Order: sequence, then structure tokens, then C-alpha cells
Amino acid sequence: MLCLRVPTDAAWIDEATRDLARVLVDHAHCEMKAASNALSLAARHPDDLALVVTLTDLAREEIDHFQRVVAELARRGVKLGPPPVDEYAAELRRACAQSARDAALPALVDRLLVAALIEARSCERFKLLVGALEGRDRELGAFYDELFAAEARHYRTFRDLAVRVASGDETRVEARLAELAIVEGRIVEALAHGASRAMIHG
Ligand SMILES: [Fe+2]
Ligand SMILES: [Fe+2]
Repeated sequence: MLCLRVPTDAAWIDEATRDLARVLVDHAHCEMKAASNALSLAARHPDDLALVVTLTDLAREEIDHFQRVVAELARRGVKLGPPPVDEYAAELRRACAQSARDAALPALVDRLLVAALIEARSCERFKLLVGALEGRDRELGAFYDELFAAEARHYRTFRDLAVRVASGDETRVEARLAELAIVEGRIVEALAHGASRAMIHG
């Protein structure tokens, strides 16, 4: 799906649906982190107003997602609690920073592409949740269907911003995205053997 190289394994959806409360808590924090990441990128690049506007619009949408997931938690009587350890994002940022960068591309391109990959993986997993929730929880299924479309759009937003920041050099950006997607795939495969998988990126 999108740029992803490794599909999520079948065991993930079983574990996720077995502990939906845990998935929702993790999901809420993922939305909050997506908003903060977009705001932090915007604050670091004040000279690029188009980028600032795009990223702050995206942050606003992620905050709306966060509030809606929190409302879902409240409806179920589940506490938000502190953010679970996000091994996926931490490992992805670390591994991408270590992967030899294309020197012709500004460093910001990698940060935007990492954000694009995170959106793509959320998008893939939301689609799996939509399928699994069919006939079981239609309301939550419809919510994930809507979020699936939003995160697919965010994937494109980050990918397109990366191309713009690279002065329109789509070929170079696509090549770098393909490299980073391989890195992301390895992390997803490694996490598939982890202890706790009832997480959006677990
Ligand atoms: Fe979101
Ligand atoms: Fe998003």
C-alpha cells in the first residue's frame, strides 16, 4: 500500500482487535505526536510560509483526530494514560538518520519522508481495522474508514512537500523514499516478534 514494502502480518490484526482499548490509547497518542511533529517542523522552517501553512493545517486536523479518539475512549470508559513507548517511531527516526543521505537533497526531505512513511503505515493499519470491525463495531469501523482516507492524504501531503523542498526533483525524492521504505519494512518485521502488538505501529 502506498510506498510500503512490507505488509503488516496477519497476527497483528488479531492482537489489535483482542485489545481495542489499548489500540485506542496508543492511537490517541499517535495523533497527538503527529500534530506536535507537524508543528515542530513548521516552527523550524519559518522562511517557507507555504510549508508552514500546510503543516499547521495538518496539525489542526491531527488534533481533531486526537480529540475524536479521546471521545471514543471516554465513551468506553477507558483512561487515556501516559503515552506507550513508541519503539516504531524511535527506531524509524534512528535508522533513517543512519542511512546514508542523498547529499543533493536538503536534510528536511528525510524528515518529511519519515513522516510520510508513518502516515502510510497508519493508513495501512486503519484499513485492516476497518475490515476486522465490519459486523462487529460499525461505528468504530466507519471512524477508521474516515481516518484511513485522511492519513492517505497526509502521506501525499508529506511526500509532495518533500518534492517541493527538493526543488521539484521528484525522481531523487522517490528514490530516497524507496530506500527509507526498505528501512521501515525491516523495523516492522522486527516488531512483529515484539511482546506488545496492540498498538497502531506495534
Ligand atoms: Fe491523524
Ligand atoms: Fe496523519
